[in-house]
Amino acid sequence: MNRIGIMAALHDEIAALLEAMGPNAHVHRIGLRDYYVGQVGVRECVVVLARIGKVAAAATAVTLIREFQANALVFTGLAGAVADGPRVGDVVVANALLQHDMDASPLFPRHEIPLLGRSRFDTHAGLSALMAQCARDYLATDFLSDIDPDTSQTFSLGAPTVHTGLIVSGDRFINDAATVQALQSSLPDALCVEMEGAAVAQVCHEYGVPFGVLRTISDRADDTAGVDFSRFLGRVARHYSAGILKRVLEQTPTDL
Ligand code: ADE
Repeated sequence: MNRIGIMAALHDEIAALLEAMGPNAHVHRIGLRDYYVGQVGVRECVVVLARIGKVAAAATAVTLIREFQANALVFTGLAGAVADGPRVGDVVVANALLQHDMDASPLFPRHEIPLLGRSRFDTHAGLSALMAQCARDYLATDFLSDIDPDTSQTFSLGAPTVHTGLIVSGDRFINDAATVQALQSSLPDALCVEMEGAAVAQVCHEYGVPFGVLRTISDRADDTAGVDFSRFLGRVARHYSAGILKRVLEQTPTDL
């Protein structure tokens, strides 16, 4: 039976899914991580807290593929906006990912993954389109009751939208405007920055496994990013990931 692997960097982002899996989920502890194997609705899945950073994400992705035979991977979490378009509360679904801190020049071009001959890894088009549609559905319906007016005002959420494009990853939490400017000039099409997605993308490319990455914008990667990120995580993030991931699991075709 086809099984989908769901990964997140932080507990708040998978808490509701674990509840939805109920007490029948089997827990397997491997490499300091708990892999919850069970079902959400009719969909067989493995849910795991990947932890933070590219090594953690890559190790978890390999385990999902090799130990749990995951046929597709989905990574969900938060990101800092890099482009002017995405605002706090918006959702970004990746169509490609890149490691912004990979630099083996002059041996290889900047950002290129040595020996793979590429810097960008495309997500699965059908899965990504479904994730974007689920995010739009969530924002048009449950979001309105999940997020109270006070929270909406605190984060100036307005009417959040869904963007599709390049997500960049690196082992660094970005919290200064100068680094954002440097990212904008070296990678003008980057929409947002996070710390795991491109590592999962590389592993999925190497194993030929379809994958998708969805990020909610928690901050603008500037000098208030740390505070904005923590507040957003506690008050908003869990609702988004629960609402969007449940829809994705219900609607992902079983032959993916
Ligand atoms: N995830 C959420 N915000 C981030 C930021 N500013 N830098 C890196 N990863 C993030």
